[in-house]
Amino acid sequence: VAAAMAAERAPAMATCTAPVNIAVIKYWGKRDTDLILPINSSLSVTLHQDQLKTTTTAAASRDFTEDRLWLNGKEADVGHPRVQACLREVRRLARKRRGGGEDAAALSLSYKIHIASENNFPTAAGLASSAAGYACLVSALARLYGLEEELSEVARRGSGSACRSMFGGFVQWQRGERPDGTDSLALQVAPETHWPELRVLVLVVSGEKKPVGSTAGMQTSVETSLLLKHRAEVVVPERLAQMMRHIRERDFEGFGQLAMRDSNQFHATCLDTFPPIFYLTDLSRHIIALAHRYNAHHGHTKVAYTFDAGPNAVIFALADTVAEFVEVVRRSFPPAPNGDQFVRGLPVGSAALSPELVAAVVTEPVPGAVQYILHTKPGPGPQLVDDPSQHLLGADGLP
Ligand code: DP6
Repeated sequence: VAAAMAAERAPAMATCTAPVNIAVIKYWGKRDTDLILPINSSLSVTLHQDQLKTTTTAAASRDFTEDRLWLNGKEADVGHPRVQACLREVRRLARKRRGGGEDAAALSLSYKIHIASENNFPTAAGLASSAAGYACLVSALARLYGLEEELSEVARRGSGSACRSMFGGFVQWQRGERPDGTDSLALQVAPETHWPELRVLVLVVSGEKKPVGSTAGMQTSVETSLLLKHRAEVVVPERLAQMMRHIRERDFEGFGQLAMRDSNQFHATCLDTFPPIFYLTDLSRHIIALAHRYNAHHGHTKVAYTFDAGPNAVIFALADTVAEFVEVVRRSFPPAPNGDQFVRGLPVGSAALSPELVAAVVTEPVPGAVQYILHTKPGPGPQLVDDPSQHLLGADGLP
């Protein structure tokens, strides 16, 4: 009897994983800060979860006395307005789905929930974790409540860029027109299998916390930057169409050129913000110059950089360029001999650099400036974790 009761009382649980994404047409600026509605559409590449992912378990039980949240093993504030917005929206959809009728099999919406979330990469590395985090939260909650609809609109309420992590491959977040945000959604442009040769190198730079968070930074930009207004109204609509074409045609030259220009324009709007915001550092500029010298040496676009609201560089390249460019980075930023693995993620072959390449590209090495390189590629959207041993919460509902 005791065992039967315990089984009956075990919390309902669901675990999902979700990916990080990197924008090639950047989102910067909201027209509605509460609903998180952007001033322009954006487009991103979802990165593979073998290298970067968030895992989240959501549990509900009539025995829980309050909602609770743990991030990377430490209890965090479940009352955070964005967490609450996601919870509220998922519960609203679940209620709507049940049409108010009593479904005995369905999980009670009045039960309190416990959520545990962790990343498979160091948060300190400054890799965008809020997109993967909110996409994962919404995916796990949706599973818990048995929702099957598309939920990018809910993930958007956690963090704008999170809506794009609800899909794999190449993803557009369309700005939408409606004031209530019901048309501000993510759409898959192409699946991760569309461009098998595409690779991504994350150059994780040493130290440094970002000066201004993106939420606060973009609001100041909306209030003060005329360049941002021009970008949102004129530049992005044209670029979005171009970028979709480059992706469809797997045109790396076009894709890479436009990704670099869009990253640069985003950082130009930051400089045009008043007071100005600086996300690029001397090291970022060093990496930018290196990429341009490398491409100039080869006479075409072999690598393309993009930077978000932080100092890490993300480099796109085709698979046959990776080994050589990684060697160029190693020569340009000789790793500290501390035994740490310099190249992580997908395997990278070895490459011998020609003296001409070294002379043209590797100028003034900066030892230790790049901590490590993470080699990854486009990957799928959120995944359900079937194996119950992978849950981040125990049968007692605690981590
Ligand atoms: C520079 O999605 O983090 O990475 O919506 O306020 O949570 P909030 O902002 P967030 O901003 C991301 C900005 C960016 C560009 C991008 O990912 O498109």
